[in-house]
Amino acid sequence: MRWWHSLAAAGTLLAVLVLSAAGLRSPTEHHHGQTSSAEDGRRAAPPLRFASGGSFKVAILADLHYGEDAWTEWGPAQDAASDRVMAAVLDAEKPGRLLLFPSLSNSPFFHFVVYLGDLVTANNLPIPNASLYWDRAISPTRSRGIPWATVFGNHDDMPFEWPLEWFSPAGVPPVRCTSGEDQVGCSFRGTPRIDLMTTEIGKNRLSYSSTGPKDLRPGVSNYVLQVLSRTTHDDPALLMYFLDSGGGSYPEVISSAQVNWFQSQSHFLNPNGRIPELIFWHIPSTEYVKVAPKAKSQIRKPCVGSINKEDVAPQEAEWGMMNALAKRPSVKAIFVGHNHGLDWCCPYEKLWLCFARHTGYGGYGSWAKGARVIEITEKPFSIVSWIRVENGTTHSDVTLSS
Ligand SMILES: *[C@@H]1O[C@H](CO)[C@@H](O)[C@H](O)[C@H]1NC(C)=O
Ligand SMILES: *[C@@H]1O[C@H](CO)[C@@H](O)[C@H](O)[C@H]1NC(C)=O
Repeated sequence: MRWWHSLAAAGTLLAVLVLSAAGLRSPTEHHHGQTSSAEDGRRAAPPLRFASGGSFKVAILADLHYGEDAWTEWGPAQDAASDRVMAAVLDAEKPGRLLLFPSLSNSPFFHFVVYLGDLVTANNLPIPNASLYWDRAISPTRSRGIPWATVFGNHDDMPFEWPLEWFSPAGVPPVRCTSGEDQVGCSFRGTPRIDLMTTEIGKNRLSYSSTGPKDLRPGVSNYVLQVLSRTTHDDPALLMYFLDSGGGSYPEVISSAQVNWFQSQSHFLNPNGRIPELIFWHIPSTEYVKVAPKAKSQIRKPCVGSINKEDVAPQEAEWGMMNALAKRPSVKAIFVGHNHGLDWCCPYEKLWLCFARHTGYGGYGSWAKGARVIEITEKPFSIVSWIRVENGTTHSDVTLSS
């Protein structure tokens, strides 16, 4: 068969997949009365599914911090460098495959990207709308046809901070934010979580993000994604939970309302704990402090990682989420960002607490940039993870479940 015949066949297959997917959204959305606009924006997205080789591979892109110091030279330069890190990481693991047709490929490739918060440094954005930088952060994934999900970090909706040096001796700030002469639309308040998320969802067919239930506000990115089995027809074979760990416009916490939400979702979707579960949020919980290797010491087994340069900067309180997770043997690992100087995984109770890897050139820290990769295999079941750095090498392989 010539290549254009295969493509035509693939197109037909895709159309069929999309049609059959239309009624197949996660029950959680209807459960919690999502706004119809959020749902409509994603209706065309096919269900996530293990590849025919039996694997599902996730790249975690954490702490990109786009939009810092746009009025200097190094701000835009570091954003360009972050573009390159994401391109290097995604291309290294996925040499030119068409992800829109996963059923046609047997090879390992990226199936999904998780943006683990601090996509932008909103307290440093002299533009009216942080969505522009948010969109730039997701564009390397979108342009490769890879679906993704985002969660919020503490920097994503911080109000703009005026640098002191912008004030003249008279105490009047010369406006530096607009390109044009008129200063219409020049706002320094920052863009709220809900606006960033609804803009992303509305514009992107490959976005699997969700604003989450209204009763969890001000937290926004609280949602579950199911990955369907390749072998047992349409059974969920992996659940990925995303939670907003706060920060920015409200305290750095996971509320007990979020705990209740997690419990009702997990009992509804996975009553007997048969389906493995992974958890993603931005700010490490206080339990991370307990398992952390002493800062600046060597990382020793059973912990695995390569950077241990600072103390864990945890959430402000622990209101029951860790207890709820530790009680479920189906929960295999939690992934967080936030600490740029940490990239380890350590065991905790029956699960693993993992840091991602600082991906962006924005934000503090000059350690080599990269991404944590997770590969989940359906049969025989395993979850392995490693870190891929910008220069193409990988290290810190760890088995999180088998
Ligand atoms: C700014 O955000 C609003 C609300 O989310 C959106 O409708 C609008 O398109 C955005 N504008 C730009 C320039 O990104
Ligand atoms: C790649 O970067 C890592 C992390 O900085 C470093 O340890 C390794 O030596 C580098 N490898 C090559 C081939 O440049």
